[in-house]
Amino acid sequence: MKIEINSSTEMQKLGASIANTASPNDLLLLEGDLGAGKTTMTQGIGRALGIRRPVKSPTFTIVREYREGKLPLFHMDFYRLENDDLSSIDLAGYLTEGGLVVIEWPQLVLNDLPEEYLQLNITRVDDEWNSTKRIVEFLPKGAHYQEWVDKLIATFNA
Ligand SMILES: Nc1ncnc2c1ncn2[C@@H]1O[C@H](COP(=O)(O)OP(=O)(O)O)[C@@H](O)[C@H]1O
Ligand SMILES: [Mg+2]
Repeated sequence: MKIEINSSTEMQKLGASIANTASPNDLLLLEGDLGAGKTTMTQGIGRALGIRRPVKSPTFTIVREYREGKLPLFHMDFYRLENDDLSSIDLAGYLTEGGLVVIEWPQLVLNDLPEEYLQLNITRVDDEWNSTKRIVEFLPKGAHYQEWVDKLIATFNA
């Protein structure tokens, strides 16, 4: 399943649909090049969860925790992960705290993740550097995540 997104605002709206249909302990993996819109989408998630402070890129901190919303949001970015950093992060703990876990650049931790999750691939389709068009592909693993995709897309299109 793929959808076309035409602006940052629309990407944040997709984030809101994700937030409004998420369940505790859901795991969302965001794949896409730098500038694809992974953090922008997560900002939409945070706002819809009722998190007031702005969701910022966790690139230099690896994990940012936001606990004041409808669900806790645990936002991770493994782009700059060094091998020894990984052992300092209690990934399994975050996955069972009843929150929504969003991971940018998940490749380095794939072996440490559960078998079921929702992966989104975000790609730019136009060559112009400033194009605001993106394709978001939904790749759910497991029945729960397939159901989530059906629900969130219905919400997005409503
Ligand atoms: N359709 C879109 N979706 C998301 N971001 C967009 C879109 N169009 C333009 N942008 C811009 O692209 C940049 C995406 O940056 P960011 O969300 O930090 O990407 P990433 O986290 O994937 O590296 C932002 O400056 C954002 O305003
Ligand atoms: Mg980012």
